[in-house]
This record gives sequence, structure tokens and C-alpha cells, in this order.
Amino acid sequence: MSDRKALIAGNWKMYKTCAEAVDEAKALVDLVQPMDDREIMIAPTYTALAQVSEVLKGSPVALGAQNMFWENEGAFTGEISAPMLISAGCSHVIIGHSERRQYFGETDDTVNKKIVTAFNHDLIPVFCIGESEQERDLNQTFSILDKQVTKGLSNLSSKDLETLIIAYEPIWAIGTGKTATTEQAQEAHRFIRSLIDKAFGSELAQSMRILYGGSVKPDNIDELMAMPDVDGALVGGASLKADSFSNIIKYNR
Ligand code: 13P
Repeated sequence: MSDRKALIAGNWKMYKTCAEAVDEAKALVDLVQPMDDREIMIAPTYTALAQVSEVLKGSPVALGAQNMFWENEGAFTGEISAPMLISAGCSHVIIGHSERRQYFGETDDTVNKKIVTAFNHDLIPVFCIGESEQERDLNQTFSILDKQVTKGLSNLSSKDLETLIIAYEPIWAIGTGKTATTEQAQEAHRFIRSLIDKAFGSELAQSMRILYGGSVKPDNIDELMAMPDVDGALVGGASLKADSFSNIIKYNR
């Protein structure tokens, strides 16, 4: 067990209207207490951020967005900037989720611009990486992770990256009920930590939190969190209900 503080984060994806998000956030706040060894974050849709932020005030639950654009303002119809997220109460932002890469044309280059922007605005980026099923079958998992980390973090120094959080989300495990085995998760997390070590030094590698995402549920969180290089979870489906999400947050260590 490391002394890295765990983070249990909920990615609400494109679910919940404003009213539904507010209700679920209230239910969650009622179910969780501050804990010394773990942090909590939820990422509702953009439209619900400001209202949910009011609900989370004074609670141990931080607020994140699911994406953002890299310019501060301008003629970029449909986009949202870092200052806008901050004004809505966000401290975190998810960047490079596989669904954004798959359906909305995100590339390692755009992901890199967004990570740089997040640091420039003191937003904490949750940087998502992970291989597809085909890439795993072709034994390309490590080379894909290497490419995503190297390109996603280019032009950044170890000083910039102090707050960076990485989320390893194997695409074949997202929303499929097919969780990676604890051994597969640990192997990938150890490899990602070794990449950070090689590129930025061991101090950063040892302090950086690496979350696992992909069909995390109340009944598999304990075994995942028992792995030495798993420092938390990025939860989709099971974060949508305060009951199940609070059970994940209260995992046993
Ligand atoms: P599920 O937990 O629904 O598999 O989603 C994982 C995910 O994509 C979190 O970002």
C-alpha cells in the first residue's frame, strides 16, 4: 500500500438533466464523510455543473468536467473553456476519455493541448489512456500506452505534472461488464508508472496517482484497490446512483 491518497471519481457521461444531477449529488453528499486516505470527485454534464457545485459546497466531493477546449474564449461554437469551468466551480477536468477519442476526433495532440491548458489554469487534469480490445489481442497494449503518455505529456515538465492524475481505462472494459483482472490492471499501472519514471523521474512517478476505469462496481473495488499501483477509480455506470457510488467510495483497504 502506498501513501498516495486515493481518488474515487464518477464520470456521469451524457446522463442526467440538471434536476436529476442535483438530486443525485444531494443524495451522494448525504452518504459520504470526509476521509483522510481518499478523495471523491464527480463529473456531471456541463449544463449541470454550476447547480451541482452549489450542492457540493462544504462537502468532501470535488467537481470535475468531462472535457474542455484549449482556448480561453473566441469564436468556437459549442466549446467550453477552462475559465468557464472554473467559474462553474470545477477543480478537475477529465481529458482524453476514450469516448472523446473514438467519437469526437480527439487525438494525442489535442489531448496534449488540453492538458497544458488545464495546468495553465490550475485545473487538475484526469488524463485518460487505454488500449482497444484489438490492440490488446495484438500485444500492443504497452506500445499504445507508451505513445499516449509520451505524446499526451509532451512539452510538460515534472514541475507542471505535480497534480496530474492518470486514468487507465482499457476500452474493452468500459461499459461492458468485462473488468480487467486485478493482474491486468496492476501490470498496466506498473508499466505506466515506469513510463513516468523514465520521462520525468522517480519522485513524480512515485507520487502520481493512477486510477483504474472500466466496469468498476462495489463488488470489485476492494480487490482492485488492493493492487500496489492502483490509486483509485474512474467510475462510469456505477457512479450514477448515489447508493452504489458511495459503496465504491467506502471500499475496504
Ligand atoms: P463504466 O464504469 O461504465 O465501465 O465506465 C468507465 C468509464 O468510462 C469512466 O470514465
